[in-house]
Amino acid sequence: MNRRDFTKTSLAVTASTALGYSRILGANDRINLSLIGCGDRGMQIWNIFLKQPDANPVAVCDVYKTNAEKAATASAATASGKVAIHEDFRRVLEMKDVDAIVVATPDHWHALPTVLGCQAGKDVYCEKPLSLTVAEGRKMLEAARKHNRVVQTGSQQRSGPHFQRAVQIVQNGEIGAVHKITVGFTRNVVPGFKPEWALNGKTDCPQDLNWDMYLGPAPKVPYDPFRFLYHFRWFWDYSGGQMTNWGAHNLDIARWALQAKAPSAVASFGGRYEIKDGGETPDVQEVLYQFPNAVVTWSGREVNRQRDEYLVFHGTKGTLSIMRGGFTVTPEVWKAISKNTTPAMQPMEMKGDGNEAQTLHIRNFLDCVKSRKRPNADVEEGHLTAAMCHLGNIATRLNRMLKWDAERELFLGDREANQMLSRPYRKPWKLEV
Ligand SMILES: NC(=O)c1ccc[n+]([C@@H]2O[C@H](COP(=O)([O-])OP(=O)(O)OC[C@H]3O[C@@H](n4cnc5c(N)ncnc54)[C@H](O)[C@@H]3O)[C@@H](O)[C@H]2O)c1
Repeated sequence: MNRRDFTKTSLAVTASTALGYSRILGANDRINLSLIGCGDRGMQIWNIFLKQPDANPVAVCDVYKTNAEKAATASAATASGKVAIHEDFRRVLEMKDVDAIVVATPDHWHALPTVLGCQAGKDVYCEKPLSLTVAEGRKMLEAARKHNRVVQTGSQQRSGPHFQRAVQIVQNGEIGAVHKITVGFTRNVVPGFKPEWALNGKTDCPQDLNWDMYLGPAPKVPYDPFRFLYHFRWFWDYSGGQMTNWGAHNLDIARWALQAKAPSAVASFGGRYEIKDGGETPDVQEVLYQFPNAVVTWSGREVNRQRDEYLVFHGTKGTLSIMRGGFTVTPEVWKAISKNTTPAMQPMEMKGDGNEAQTLHIRNFLDCVKSRKRPNADVEEGHLTAAMCHLGNIATRLNRMLKWDAERELFLGDREANQMLSRPYRKPWKLEV
């Protein structure tokens, strides 16, 4: 019986490797899922997973029981049986009936569940940014390929029809030659992120939070509410600020449109100049990336939100400006040709819908779990885009221009920069493919 016969009969057949165990799923089978990380984002996407007729929640996992219980309650109506609640994701990976995991933990907790999940024979939907370091992303890619798993990065814009069309427009040359892409995220959070409750001295660790497990491979520090829910983003030990938070979305589209793996050089200036709330990541950051025939710039600003152009492709015939709500193309007029007032192309526009893109992205993952095809934001794309973000942060932190060898994933002639491509893990955690 070949693979297709299995699928036709829609029987749940098992395949096991030395370490992992996985089912071969037919078109009509329900996919048994577990959410790992049931916070803000976890619940947003889990609720969409739960609406898919072929998604069957079997477990939820969080180091913070309050959040795990919320997810279990939300899952009950669609679950075929009792939904298990775990604090340690390794218990989820031991469950033979889990086909796929949905990882929505903070960034420093993306690599281990993904790699161990692949080893255990699970397919993985892992939130963006895929990794905390370049070395982690490489290992995640290796694990997916070695264990033949479907790993979708949570970069839902890749499944958005207007993003797909925009990329096609750029790649087809419809706005002429594109040699410059402007990418950015701006807002004004002055005086800072620190929430009232953290400032008011409410610093006792919640009874139902396993803080040591929350820190995991990151250095041990006493409980700090500012490093917990959502705000982990402003600390290097867990994340990379807006560069990895929003850069992972829009630099991804820029890199995709350029059909490029990586920049050849990066330079940057920035710092946390104005916001003095104890966070570490920049509040102003300008990064320049050199690609073979294009320059991509990233502007991150947390202290002033005027001119919030997020993603703009500058072509010789027109300018394509895109956000989640849609894109517009504004034609250029070639004034160098005497008295010319004729636009170089026709204007274009297309509406977009962020919610639709998210649903399509989850659907794409579930369909790939069955078809075994590569998903829209395959782990390799997630890795390359996260790496591009990490390069920007390393250049900012070292305050110098760095040359990048994309094949070897190493900086050229810069030992200090190369040391920043990976991080030591706190014992007992190890990342081995
Ligand atoms: N694709 C998108 O548009 C999008 C949007 C928002 C967030 N995200 C990503 O989602 C991830 C989570 O962000 P968030 O805002 O939901 O954070 P959050 O702080 O609201 O939630 C994170 C949850 O993970 C839990 N957690 C931490 N370590 C864990 C572990 N080892 N095992 C199980 N649970 C653990 C926390 O207790 C918390 O409940 C981030 O990587 C973020 O970049 C993606």
